[in-house]
Amino acid sequence: SPAVSLIINPSRSQHFTADSLSLSCKDQRDSTGWTVRRDTLNQTTFNCLSVSASTCNISSLSPSHTGVYWCQSKSGECSKSVNITVHNGDVILDSPAHPVTEGNPLTLHCLYHNINISHSVVHFYKNDSVLQNQTTGVMTISSVSKSDEGFYHCKHPERGESPKSWISVR
Ligand SMILES: *[C@@H]1O[C@H](CO)[C@@H](O)[C@H](O)[C@H]1NC(C)=O
Ligand SMILES: *[C@@H]1O[C@H](CO)[C@@H](O)[C@H](O)[C@H]1NC(C)=O
Ligand SMILES: *[C@@H]1O[C@H](CO)[C@@H](O)[C@H](O)[C@H]1NC(C)=O
Ligand SMILES: *[C@@H]1O[C@H](CO)[C@@H](O)[C@H](O)[C@H]1NC(C)=O
Ligand SMILES: *[C@@H]1O[C@H](CO)[C@@H](O)[C@H](O)[C@H]1NC(C)=O
Ligand SMILES: *[C@@H]1O[C@H](CO)[C@@H](O)[C@H](O)[C@H]1NC(C)=O
Repeated sequence: SPAVSLIINPSRSQHFTADSLSLSCKDQRDSTGWTVRRDTLNQTTFNCLSVSASTCNISSLSPSHTGVYWCQSKSGECSKSVNITVHNGDVILDSPAHPVTEGNPLTLHCLYHNINISHSVVHFYKNDSVLQNQTTGVMTISSVSKSDEGFYHCKHPERGESPKSWISVR
C-alpha cells in the first residue's frame, strides 16, 4: 500500500460553501516531494494558498471544488484517492473521508449551516432507504461490516437534504 496519505482537515468528505479546507500529504518516511492533485482541474484552478510543502489550503470553498483528490510524487507514485463534496446548501453529512475498518464503529452527524439545531427527527438514508430516524442528528453503527457499504445521506424536515457520500469498508 502507498506510503503516503492525503490528510483532510476538517476530516470529512462533505463541506459547506465558503468554509476553509486544508489538504496535505503525509509520508511516513519523508514529507517532501508530494503534491496534492485533483481529477479534472489543475493546481491554478483550485486556488491553493500554498502548493509547496505538500499542502493545499483553500480559504473559501465553492461547489466547483467537488472532486477526487490524491497525493502524487514527482515519480508518479499515488496515494489512495478521496472524494470531496462541497455543498451550497444548509445540510451536509459528516461522513468519513477515508474507508472505515471492518469491526469499528461508524458515527454520522447531520450538520446544519449557520443555524441552530432544532430537535426534529433527522432521517439517515442508505442507498435511498431510511436506515435510522434520530432526534439527536447523530446515527451510529456499532460495528461495521462490508454489507454497510453504500451511499449515505441525511435529511432534516425543514432544512433539507445533504448530498450523498459513498462510505467504503475495508
Ligand atoms: C490550468 O488552468 C488554467 C485555467 O483554466 C489554464 O489557463 C492553464 O492553461 C491550465 N494549465 C495547465 C498546465 O493545464
Ligand atoms: C494550512 O492549514 C493548516 C491547518 O489549518 C495550517 O496548520 C497550516 O499552517 C496551513 N499551511 C499553509 C501553507 O497555509
Ligand atoms: C468516490 O465516489 C464514487 C461514487 O460517487 C465511488 O464509486 C468511489 O468509490 C468513491 N471513491 C472513494 C475513494 O471513496
Ligand atoms: C440561536 O438561538 C439563540 C437563541 O434563540 C439566538 O440568540 C442566536 O442568535 C441563534 N443563533 C443563530 C446562528 O441563529
Ligand atoms: C422513519 O420515519 C419515517 C417517517 O416518519 C417512517 O416512514 C419510517 O418507517 C421510519 N424508519 C425507521 C427505520 O424508523
Ligand atoms: C448500495 O449501493 C451500492 C452501489 O450501487 C451497492 O454496491 C451496495 O451493495 C448497495 N447496498 C445495499 C445494502 O443495497
